[in-house]
Amino acid sequence: MNKKRLAIFISGRGSNMESLLRACEAPDYPADPALVLSNRPSAKGLEIAAARGIPTIAIDHKTFNGDRVTFETAIQAELEAHEIDFIALAGFMRVMTPWLVSRWEGRMVNIHPSLLPSFPGLHTHQRAIVAGCRLAGCTVHYVTPGVDEGPIIGQAAVPVMPDDTPDTLASRVLKAEHLLYPECLEAALRGEMKRARVQLIDTDPEAPILLGCP
Ligand code: GRF
Repeated sequence: MNKKRLAIFISGRGSNMESLLRACEAPDYPADPALVLSNRPSAKGLEIAAARGIPTIAIDHKTFNGDRVTFETAIQAELEAHEIDFIALAGFMRVMTPWLVSRWEGRMVNIHPSLLPSFPGLHTHQRAIVAGCRLAGCTVHYVTPGVDEGPIIGQAAVPVMPDDTPDTLASRVLKAEHLLYPECLEAALRGEMKRARVQLIDTDPEAPILLGCP
């Protein structure tokens, strides 16, 4: 089987990264984790990846004094050195310029903690609560130059409870993220984007997850 060499970009704790690394352990999963890259040297996820024997690298954006293309040139050099085929952004908190995005068009995906196109950008859970949303969720999409705008691969929805805070909602959505991302990455890598499948997952009867991915 021709497995793609996957780079996962993180900035923090890396729980989505872990869900992808777990998925990659299956013999028939179409990706091999070849690099975990963080723009924050202190990102907890780097330790988790290193403990699993995955090559890691920190490229600290702060040392580039706002020169985004030079920062991205350094990233691109690492991607080439590790012969990367595909990138999964997993909590990577830097917006990339068209310089890098165009080089990876169709080969870079992201997970965003809202039901796009609602609530692109930051503070998604607080914004969903303030807006009175009854459903929240997450989206896996291809990365294009517009922030959180690329074609949608799959989504998962969870209920918003009356007493939710941004934190309680975030942890419910995060559970859904961990289910959704490996499924959508697999579909993207296999090029199986046409078959829609919606599945109700009753992990918690009060807060079921509705998973919709190819
Ligand atoms: C996730 O909610 C992801 O959707 C968002 O940032 C968070 C990262 O969490 N972009 P983790 O680092 O994967 O645990």
